[in-house]
Amino acid sequence: MNFLDLVRQRYSVRAFRSEPVEDEKLQQILEAAQLAPTAANRQPFRVVVMRTSEHRAVLQQIYGQGWFLEAPLVLCVCGVSSEAWVRRHDGINYVDVDAAIVMDHIVLAATSLGLGTCWIGAFNPDAARNGLNLPTGYHAVAFTPLGYPDDHPGPKRRKELSDLVKFGPW
Ligand SMILES: Cc1cc2nc3c(=O)[nH]c(=O)nc-3n(C[C@H](O)[C@H](O)[C@H](O)COP(=O)(O)O)c2cc1C
Repeated sequence: MNFLDLVRQRYSVRAFRSEPVEDEKLQQILEAAQLAPTAANRQPFRVVVMRTSEHRAVLQQIYGQGWFLEAPLVLCVCGVSSEAWVRRHDGINYVDVDAAIVMDHIVLAATSLGLGTCWIGAFNPDAARNGLNLPTGYHAVAFTPLGYPDDHPGPKRRKELSDLVKFGPW
């Protein structure tokens, strides 16, 4: 599948079959995370892999939608602010940008392997910190369930390119 077809095929999956994710596929997805670009190559992230069946109560507190627990795995990309590159001009820390790129690699790699994902930003950060037992200085940036889809993509609703893109100075 070429890259544009992959991008077109990805959608937010909100229903999953219970069948397991093969270890080889998980490994490939984690390698895609490892290869993500990060500012100054600082790699200020960690990926936490949770087996849903072993952590149902914790995951339910982190994000309460029932379908979140349907997939056999849940992945969380965490940021480590102290390891991240900081732009000296304005002090902006790039940790969340880096973590988002990592999650997008995970999501697209999963799609290429026939697996489904859904970015989850609306999680409870306190429940995530406690439930994942995150060390001080680490924070959860995004979650996704990971498993085989049990739904189908709906229509893509997007703004027109002409509304999203400006050529030249604004
Ligand atoms: C940063 C981010 C956070 C998101 N958080 C949630 C979420 O908490 N719950 C959810 O159901 N979908 C979440 N989504 C999925 C978006 O709703 C979805 O990507 C968007 O509606 C476009 O649909 P598509 O992914 O099927 O193309 C999130 C997506 C992104 C990129």
